Amino acid sequence: MAKIYDALRRAEEERRRRAGDEVSPVAPLNIDPPPAAAKPRSARPSLWQRLFRRAKVRRLEAGGATEINKRRISIIQPDSYVAEQFRGLRGRIDAIGAERPITSIVVTSAFPGEGKTTASVNLAAVTALSLGQRVLLIDCDLRKPKVHTSLGLRPQAGLAEVLRNEVALDDALMKVEGANFEVLPVRGRPSNPSELLGSPEMKKLVEEVSQRYDRVILDSPAALGLPDAKAISNLCDGAVLVVRADFTSQQDVESVLEMLDRDRILGLLLNGATVDQARYGYAAS
Ligand SMILES: Nc1ncnc2c1ncn2[C@@H]1O[C@H](COP(=O)(O)OP(=O)(O)OP(=O)(O)O)[C@@H](O)[C@H]1O
Ligand SMILES: [Mg+2]
Repeated sequence: MAKIYDALRRAEEERRRRAGDEVSPVAPLNIDPPPAAAKPRSARPSLWQRLFRRAKVRRLEAGGATEINKRRISIIQPDSYVAEQFRGLRGRIDAIGAERPITSIVVTSAFPGEGKTTASVNLAAVTALSLGQRVLLIDCDLRKPKVHTSLGLRPQAGLAEVLRNEVALDDALMKVEGANFEVLPVRGRPSNPSELLGSPEMKKLVEEVSQRYDRVILDSPAALGLPDAKAISNLCDGAVLVVRADFTSQQDVESVLEMLDRDRILGLLLNGATVDQARYGYAAS
């Protein structure tokens, strides 16, 4: 883990040297403590145990209530520790936004499953808590869209349909119950996601929503190995990088920082850190 903190600290020191600001880039996000290391299996699980496990996996895949609540924690527990971390990130973005215009923000990570969608939903939720802020969350993961399931939405149309001019933007936008932001979800999964995200229509869409909203958060696929996140990042004013604690190597964090251009990184979210790591994360910045 120390390797990641070193990378983050170096990235921040370099950024500060260039920008001369004093704001911490590392906002540790800790919804749950990291799972305990797997226990060695002493015996083959019984049929009952195997059936129970399968049922549990299916419940998670279907986006059960617990799973939804976990991802939208800033909405249902606005006073929680996690919501507080996202407020810190929002404050940092606001501070940078006072120096240069920041409307569109892509959320990405090196690898799948590091917490991008969870972070996007929570950042949108805390940003929308600011008085008078019009906030839009766009699901730009056309391969494995999760924003709608995270928020319990059932879209009739989404990003691909809007980009193909099959549906008007206003007809695809959805409101989130209990929260003050709107969502452009994904409905159809196109066979050419990279081409759609890199198209002039996508550029036009980001320009249009940037006129209509104060903040536009774009949830993206993982950055390494796919062109999608880079294509989206090129259209945005800045990026938030999610780093899963004890998972992503320093080298991979460095690769993403290079790919997205360090100067455009608005913040790093260390996801799944223990409380001690989180403290160290703040101390290191
Ligand atoms: N800090 C955390 N504590 C517990 N569970 C978490 C945490 N962060 C994310 N998760 C869970 O990990 C899973 C992956 O999270 P999420 O979907 O946000 O990642 P992702 O980076 O968007 O994944 P993908 O690359 O597949 O889109 C989800 O089930 C989510 O609820
Ligand atoms: Mg995701």
